Amino acid sequence: MEAKATTILCIFLFLMITRATTTANKVPAIIVFGDSTVDAGNNNFIPTVARSNFEPYGRDFVGGKPTGRFSNGRIATDFISEAFGLKPYIPAYLDPKYKISDFATGVSFASAATGYDNATSDVLVELIANRRSVEEEHVTAEIFEDDRRSLPSRFFAGKASVVAGEEEQCRRNLLPEKLAMKNIDATLKTDEKKDIDDTLKIDEKKVAVTICCRRSDRVLLPEKKNTESSEWRFVESVIPLWRQVEYYEEYQKKLRSYVGESKAKESVGKALHITSLGTNDFLENYYAFPGRASEYTPSEYQNFLVGIAENFIKKLYNLGARKISLGGIPPMGCLPLERTTNFVGGNDCVSDYNNIALEFNNKLTKLTNKLNKDLPGIRLVFSNPYDILLHIIHKPAQYGFQVASLACCATGMFEMGYACSRASSFSCMDASKFVFWDSFHPTERTNAIIANYIVKNTLAQFLH
Ligand SMILES: *[C@@H]1O[C@H](CO)[C@@H](O)[C@H](O)[C@H]1NC(C)=O
Repeated sequence: MEAKATTILCIFLFLMITRATTTANKVPAIIVFGDSTVDAGNNNFIPTVARSNFEPYGRDFVGGKPTGRFSNGRIATDFISEAFGLKPYIPAYLDPKYKISDFATGVSFASAATGYDNATSDVLVELIANRRSVEEEHVTAEIFEDDRRSLPSRFFAGKASVVAGEEEQCRRNLLPEKLAMKNIDATLKTDEKKDIDDTLKIDEKKVAVTICCRRSDRVLLPEKKNTESSEWRFVESVIPLWRQVEYYEEYQKKLRSYVGESKAKESVGKALHITSLGTNDFLENYYAFPGRASEYTPSEYQNFLVGIAENFIKKLYNLGARKISLGGIPPMGCLPLERTTNFVGGNDCVSDYNNIALEFNNKLTKLTNKLNKDLPGIRLVFSNPYDILLHIIHKPAQYGFQVASLACCATGMFEMGYACSRASSFSCMDASKFVFWDSFHPTERTNAIIANYIVKNTLAQFLH
């Protein structure tokens, strides 16, 4: 109890100090790249099922509003922004409510379900079919990769209740629960439809079928009697990292016309760039599909991702960025979804996944040291959420939490995204007693603790 009170006092004092010293605005803006850990709502504006802009998400956010953040309230980067004396939340770049004047002090390009690996952002693709044909016949898609049948027998699709796949074949789909087709349809018919590009608009006669395969896989549809009534095509998946960098280039152009060439350059050089991604590459790609695992050993795959991280940092550097925080990955074997499916291990943390995270974080640390030597003037730091989150999970009571193995939303075992929404009546009353909000993402309180820890231990050097 005393330890807890001291911790809270320290965090409080720390925030006071940081507020007082940031008046000179050493960091004029925070620029965010990554996945759902730092997506502030970009996925609301692209056609994907990896979303959270509905209840009960955001129920503890200002005004109780779901924003597309995968939490009950704010995410870590919002707290970091506030600690730097900037806005209490960082807006999403694709949100038309915001303009360059808002983005000048902070912007997020992050996209839930993405990763370093291009193949990760393509895990969830959608096929759009004419509703009538789907209801009338059982449509089945078979998926082949390089002409070899690489996935067990038939993949799903078709008939009203089956969409997201059979759990055996699709264990780590973002939506592990079978999705009712009409739910997908309904979600795309809500008023956010207008934000979706016209060409991708889905009218009442059509339904979106989500299958869990990679975009690069070839999907062969069986011959159908009434092909003219079916229209199958891929729609864009979530925003890959390279595309986030393109958005950043576009942002810099807008910033230059807003504040002028030299001020824009100064702003970019002083801004803090934060990255947070990698978990999906392992859990939603490498360990979920045969493709990458047949190409690389776990260690080789880590090196592959670190290579992409290196090019990404160099790209930011070439665009003028100097202050960069490279984010590590959490003890991902302790995410409630992984614990729930750890039948052999008695629902304990999956130690193999935690070890992978430790190895990967070590490699990112080495990369950080290397790039600080290679790139003159760069101030690259490695921000590691692993130890603090693991400590919270092992000793939740020390931080005022009651539950660490199950999440707050729905049953707390499997649900995230739309599944949380549908079963939200089962959700816990007080999310601040839970370490995790959904089966993959922390609560606002956990985000605040992690953010304050990282500011204090890693990012504080940028305050001066
Ligand atoms: C990912 O895709 C982009 C765009 O097609 C491409 O430029 C990039 O080289 C790809 N990255 C890797 C590591 O294959």
